[in-house]
Amino acid sequence: MSNFYEERVLSVHHWTDTLFSFTTTRDASFRFKNGQFTMIGLKVDEKPLLRAYSLASTNYDEDLEFFSIKVPDGPLTSRLQNLKVGDPIIVGKKAVGTLVLDNLKDGKRLFLLGTGTGLAPFLALIRDPETYERYRQVVLVHGCRQVAELAYGERIQSELPQDEFLGEAIRNQLTYYPTVTREPFRNRGRITDLLTSGQLFSDIGQPGFDPEGDRFMLCGSPQMLADLKAIFEERGLTEGNTGEPGDYVIEKAFVEK
Ligand code: A2P
Repeated sequence: MSNFYEERVLSVHHWTDTLFSFTTTRDASFRFKNGQFTMIGLKVDEKPLLRAYSLASTNYDEDLEFFSIKVPDGPLTSRLQNLKVGDPIIVGKKAVGTLVLDNLKDGKRLFLLGTGTGLAPFLALIRDPETYERYRQVVLVHGCRQVAELAYGERIQSELPQDEFLGEAIRNQLTYYPTVTREPFRNRGRITDLLTSGQLFSDIGQPGFDPEGDRFMLCGSPQMLADLKAIFEERGLTEGNTGEPGDYVIEKAFVEK
């Protein structure tokens, strides 16, 4: 039996010259947890060319959604960016990953900290009812270099609060905090600096860092993860893993070099 599903592209959306999203059909037997990733790709010369991608769609959505960068000479993304509706795409049957609620201790407030396409797993988690059952406050921080890269901002701010089932929880419990580092914007600066300076907390009008009640999920570049990890370790937080829930969990944003 094959380890892959053969799906079809349903839609493609280009955010910028370097970022795009696409949706695909979903096999009815595909199961995953919100926050996980799987291998996806294309057949090139009859061989599968695959990379890890977080599922931006939830486990209750009918379709699958992925958020990707475009690397001009990246073996997969240089091809993926030309996807058209109806094209075939390979999706791995086994989703895995550490950014799942089971790997976090209970708490009062959950911070989802993502840079670039590291936003993707959080798009699923902010639409998971369990997120709002387990944490009173959920703060989604998305850090990018430029304003145009703040993909999904509109959907998060305008559509999600109107969601038939989750709208009320989202309106009451979710705070979206986009931040930009390389051009003017209402929120500016790196996530690391916004946390250590306390600026993030004052901007969202919430109490400062609370090691007892705050939990974190991180998804970004290796350096961003290392810097945040150092900040958390210094404050005595423990990293969670499968079978051992912690105060924070991390995952590399999958970027094709
Ligand atoms: P900056 O513009 O100061 O480098 P990238 O596209 O390089 O992954 O960056 C995405 C966003 O993450 C940018 O806003 C970038 O800020 C920020 N960033 C890059 N490295 C780190 C880091 N080590 N810690 C926190 N934020 C980072």
